[in-house]
Amino acid sequence: MNDTGTLQLPPQASTVAPDVDALYYFIFWGCTAFFVLIVGLAAFFAVKYRRRPGDTYRPSPSHNTPLEITWTVVPLLLVMIVFVWGFRGYMKMHTAPGQALEYNVIGKQWLWQINHPGGAVEVNQMYVPVDRPVRLLLQSEDVIHSFYVPDFRVKMDAYPNQYTSMWFEATRIGDFDLFCTEYCGNEHSAMIGKVHVLSQVDFDRWLEEAAPGPGDDPVAFGERLFKSKACNTCHSIDGSRLTGPTFQGLFGRQESLADGSTVIADENYIRRSILEPQAQITAGYDPVMPTYSGILRPQDIDALIEYIKTLQ
Ligand code: CUA
Repeated sequence: MNDTGTLQLPPQASTVAPDVDALYYFIFWGCTAFFVLIVGLAAFFAVKYRRRPGDTYRPSPSHNTPLEITWTVVPLLLVMIVFVWGFRGYMKMHTAPGQALEYNVIGKQWLWQINHPGGAVEVNQMYVPVDRPVRLLLQSEDVIHSFYVPDFRVKMDAYPNQYTSMWFEATRIGDFDLFCTEYCGNEHSAMIGKVHVLSQVDFDRWLEEAAPGPGDDPVAFGERLFKSKACNTCHSIDGSRLTGPTFQGLFGRQESLADGSTVIADENYIRRSILEPQAQITAGYDPVMPTYSGILRPQDIDALIEYIKTLQ
């Protein structure tokens, strides 16, 4: 069932999606047909050969060679079709074409870091051109995550200390859901994003503009980063407690740390908390934040600090 409540698969938006769906439906309708046949015959025979008054015991025939060959060979052929079909699809999905664009994808509790070709780094947002093969090299910084784009019918786990890879070729322009589909802790359900499929022209333009500058207003830029870099997954701005401390009233506050010491939340404290999140853990919170070293540039951190200063 999809979210509109109908028995329909999500839209097919990659080159492999029609193949995957066709095999899925072959198995689904094959199972349905055999279910009806077997249950129907069982019910029919139960009625037809029920014991009637006056019946005497008759031994059943022990053997029927043509029947047994039939119910062995027919299912064997069917599962061999499923095997060959599935294996060919598997090979196709695991062998990226040589001219694929390369992306590095890093899963961490709880975000996806997407390193695009050309160096642009995004959090939970992936930009790809339409009708071009894209290869992802996946890894994790902590536990097992799994990169899943339902509309593309592709899914691959991301492990610590080991690369995995997958590829796809998007066939439709638009925004498609990206999920983590391996339970990875507290905020697993918030580890979601979008794959933006752009025309080649728009993609080239995006690549050029991919490193957005601070612009005129660092506070507005910082607010954008707060959302686009997924800080808001774990930090509220209204005082409510999420996985991490709220940013409301943070700047200038005296924070109690897990080691018993205290610190004034000034620019250096915030900068260090972003780059070395394990260094100064706020009392009462778990040391679970990933480092943003390599994701945020110095000017990005400046803007975030300016934004946090406004949240009094
Ligand atoms: Cu990452 Cu679930």
